[in-house]
Amino acid sequence: MQFIRFSDLCAQGQATGRRVFIRADLNVPQNDAGEITEDTRIRASVPAIRMALDAGAAVMVTSHLGRPTEGEFKPEDSLAPVAKRLGELLGREVPLIANWVDGVTVEPGQLVLLENCRVNKGEKKNNEELARKMAALCDIFVHDAFGTAHRAEGTTYGIAQFAPVACAGPLLAAEMDAIAKALANPKRPLIAIVAGSKVSTKLTILQSLAKNVDGLIVGGGIANTFMLAAGLNIGKSLAEADLVGEAKAVIEAMKARGAAVPIPTDVVVAKTFAADAPATVKQATEVADDDLILDIGPETAAQLAAQLMVAGTIVWNGPVGVFEFAAFEGGTKAIAQAIAASPAFSIAGGGDTLAAIAKYGIEQDVGYISTGGGAFLEVLEGKTLPAFEILAKRAA
Ligand code: 3PG
Repeated sequence: MQFIRFSDLCAQGQATGRRVFIRADLNVPQNDAGEITEDTRIRASVPAIRMALDAGAAVMVTSHLGRPTEGEFKPEDSLAPVAKRLGELLGREVPLIANWVDGVTVEPGQLVLLENCRVNKGEKKNNEELARKMAALCDIFVHDAFGTAHRAEGTTYGIAQFAPVACAGPLLAAEMDAIAKALANPKRPLIAIVAGSKVSTKLTILQSLAKNVDGLIVGGGIANTFMLAAGLNIGKSLAEADLVGEAKAVIEAMKARGAAVPIPTDVVVAKTFAADAPATVKQATEVADDDLILDIGPETAAQLAAQLMVAGTIVWNGPVGVFEFAAFEGGTKAIAQAIAASPAFSIAGGGDTLAAIAKYGIEQDVGYISTGGGAFLEVLEGKTLPAFEILAKRAA
């Protein structure tokens, strides 16, 4: 996909002395005391900000935080904790500016953080008047918010329409490059792991991937529905019986292309959903009516790990079992370790997946870890995200 890269503009000296407006995704989780509990997105936004400062630009950065009511600023919506953390990471004070839509004073070499952009009226619905005002604040608009790239809002779309120049920041560009490497022109075999509790929330992803991947590994409640589709008893496990037809269609679509959806041959079951529930390994054909399947079994895990070891590309979204409970983490741990050990290029995304990556300490061994939650899922669905669409248009 064609788009202008901010790094190129900086290298050509085009950002020097210019007003640069960076849309980052600094939407990080906080605890009840308002403390940031996980700062990956802030750290991931630092390279664009440094790039702009090093180029001698006057730098404005904004983000949303949560889903505030427009026009009603509340203290808990403030980016103040983010400004503090960003300041620590950059080693400089980061002034936070409220009510910034009608004008911002910032000199070359300076950096300001503009308060939660979703408090501005018209942001969510991408109001044109608001977008034009924001575009007038800058010479260059830098979209670096992959986590929000699936939203067509004022700061993610409208401003990109009207700013003199609209380009991709280094984080957005890296996400675009990694996604293209994994899905557009992958080294084969391409194996996708799609796991989670419900087929319904990931059906379009499964259908879209079934047209492209060589192996589609399903896990969690999704695998249970596929086991039902394969005629297996799943006891009282979580599944969506009404989607068995769709699961069968995915299996058939894969088969028609000479590809496969591996169905677990063994599973780990319990009688109740609890961390201390006794775990039993069973053949997939021997699940009892009162069993709950909470993980794939060791035989299945070993088979899948062997497939991952010879893959060319791996796309990972979702843990294959209840990995939060020690007795049911074996499958997810085996998959994570196989991804880490595999020479394949791997890309992973989604909240639970990131938690599993952190739990097994494989951050350095995954080819690319996406900062997108919903945005990453929409990419897997095969959608063109609004951010990519408008940046491509502006590069034409
Ligand atoms: C996210 O957390 O996934 C992004 O920041 C997008 O947030 P949103 O779902 O509120 O648009």
